[in-house]
Amino acid sequence: MAVQVQENGRLFTISTKNTTYQMKADRYGVLLHLYYGRRCEGSMEYLLTYADRGYAANINDAGSDRTYSLDVLPQEFPCDGTGDMRSPALSLEYGNRIRGCDMRFAGYTVREGKYGLKGLPAVYAEEGESQTLEIVLRDTAGLAEVTLLYGVLPELDIITRSVLVRNISENEIRIEKIMSANLDFVGGRYDLITFYGRHCMERNFQRTPVAHMEQCIGSRRGTSSHQFNPMMILAGPDTTETAGSCYSMQFVYSGGFSGSAGMDQYDQTRMQMGLMTEKFSYPLMPGEVFTAPEVIMSYSAQGLGTLSNNLQECIRKHVCRGKWRDKVRPVLLNSWEAYYMDFDGADILALAEQAAELGMDMLVLDDGWFGKRDDDTSGLGDWYVNEEKLGGKMKELIYWVHRKGLKFGLWIEPEMINEDSDLYREHPDWAMAIPGRKPVRGRMQLVLDFSRKEVVDYVFESICKVLDEDTIDYVKWDYNRSIADVYSHTASDQGRVLYDYILGLYDFLERLSQRYPDMLIEGCSGGGGRFDAGMLYYTPQIWCSDNTDAIDRLRIQYGTSFGYPASCVGAHVSVSPNEQNGRVTPLKTRGITAMSGTFGYELNPEKLSAEEKNEIRTQVARRKEVAELIHNGKYYRLTSPFDGEAAAWEFVSEDGTDVLLNVVNLEIHGNRPVTYIRLQGLSSGAAYRDEESGRVYPADALMEAGLPMPAPFGEYGALQIRFKMV
Ligand code: GLA
Repeated sequence: MAVQVQENGRLFTISTKNTTYQMKADRYGVLLHLYYGRRCEGSMEYLLTYADRGYAANINDAGSDRTYSLDVLPQEFPCDGTGDMRSPALSLEYGNRIRGCDMRFAGYTVREGKYGLKGLPAVYAEEGESQTLEIVLRDTAGLAEVTLLYGVLPELDIITRSVLVRNISENEIRIEKIMSANLDFVGGRYDLITFYGRHCMERNFQRTPVAHMEQCIGSRRGTSSHQFNPMMILAGPDTTETAGSCYSMQFVYSGGFSGSAGMDQYDQTRMQMGLMTEKFSYPLMPGEVFTAPEVIMSYSAQGLGTLSNNLQECIRKHVCRGKWRDKVRPVLLNSWEAYYMDFDGADILALAEQAAELGMDMLVLDDGWFGKRDDDTSGLGDWYVNEEKLGGKMKELIYWVHRKGLKFGLWIEPEMINEDSDLYREHPDWAMAIPGRKPVRGRMQLVLDFSRKEVVDYVFESICKVLDEDTIDYVKWDYNRSIADVYSHTASDQGRVLYDYILGLYDFLERLSQRYPDMLIEGCSGGGGRFDAGMLYYTPQIWCSDNTDAIDRLRIQYGTSFGYPASCVGAHVSVSPNEQNGRVTPLKTRGITAMSGTFGYELNPEKLSAEEKNEIRTQVARRKEVAELIHNGKYYRLTSPFDGEAAAWEFVSEDGTDVLLNVVNLEIHGNRPVTYIRLQGLSSGAAYRDEESGRVYPADALMEAGLPMPAPFGEYGALQIRFKMV
């Protein structure tokens, strides 16, 4: 049993294979957090200490006991107005802007199976794989009832959390702040690991000590953003890839978010993750329920590698869905960097011809095929095929691409509108803009108001019309700006718009995946601006970055790997010098780097030499050989591309017999010392054969002393070795 309830229904213990999470409704009905970490039995209530502290507020029920203060005690779901002056998880407003709530224990239920969330993505599990614990808290003044949801995946050491808030009063209340997960630590020192970035350089690794201040990450862009990924890790100062304690929180949501960690006056750390509070103030009428998005939590006592493996597996098997979840994805050729928007039907067919010749599986027609769309100033919103530009019907193009033995994919950007479009001329109020102000532009486009059902319905219908022309095997769902001016013409309250927008997006995606169950959907937002577990529930892969330079990609993919599996990382080979940063890299290096994602090409093969085309043909074939291992194997970060001489990573099959080592050299020097790469995850005591050279190595030596790298000659050389257990 993952969930255990003791002490008369007041002590709750969640156990996973290697971890324990415990909380208790104390004598005042306050739900105190007792413990999260390495698995252990028994009650951890002994960890609580009580002292009369200066300036510590005491709840009224404590009477004259000045040692009981919520400003000091570790809590499961701290509320605004109880004397806890740290950051609350819940802040409610009611009446004449009164702030305050005080949630006390009111009951619990334990259920088989993993809970789901209405209108929102959530981790799912097969029968017998999970349990749900619901703890109900009720406000002492009868304002609201809160249900804390806990889901457990014991095998993966995963605990999920979400919160439902129901208005049980007779008047409107407002949610001003809601964190889906709060984690209080009574002691310990930690580092905070976060993933910051920008367009074309997402998910850079950053590690800073948690100090006596609140360190916050988040997004106020209406999307999860390039700037911070909705994922964070607390790690012991000595924690490495292979040893030490670490905790993670990952948001299953694609809109604005907030994450924080900080130490209080008594050196106690609080970590939180939930919805962005800015431009959020959610009205709840009597009886209405608000659902806070889910947070995935995990703990590892074996370092960051194990933590990532569990998170990757959770995303791969319990977040991603549909036919493509477990399947190796088609190797594709995308038209974007080949033609941008300057193409006609013949160009696309020529690309398809090349793709087929080089052994690829799919041709993707990117931006520029619809409305009036020859550059990025017009056309978005007009989802009808530009037959004049294509020189025929979409149906015909698809027919010919399929005839070449390829699948066919199409780019769409459903949430956007250009002012220069028929749709905008007809429905200017469908775009987000604040009345009396000129709309803020981003890439010359405005955001459609997806908090309105009629807008979602209209775009859905018009895109389906195109998708129904013939079998479209794949769509790339793009989103190319942030939401700057939040206003919906029809919303009952502007404080709900950003959240309702995301519900509209998810509704569209859900309908799309149900209507086209065989279609593969790839998420995208100017590359990896919406790379989150929420999107992955609908789109099992996401274009990881608009930056296709292999060397920058090493960092981007390294950062991404902390929370996400390689099977969802959109990665393509493009030309050299690279079109984003001008860097020159060998084709082999580009191939090896992109192979560790979903794999494809983003170039015009016609412009390449016969030699390069031959190399691509070999690359595609190679990738097909190792695709299963990359898609379903365990991923190990062997070095960091942020500070090493070489970036090295590895895939190991579930049974440990098949290994793919990848190394890219980052530095060259004369007469250089030898670099040894230490492998991980091999079967101790076994031996492994290098498939190409035939040489056999003892597993333990490969893991302990490493494999000497050949002296690099020339910049950014790369190496890929497949080992098989002997
Ligand atoms: C975004 C995407 C690119 C490409 C363009 C098309 O930037 O990330 O891959 O699809 O849009 O406009």
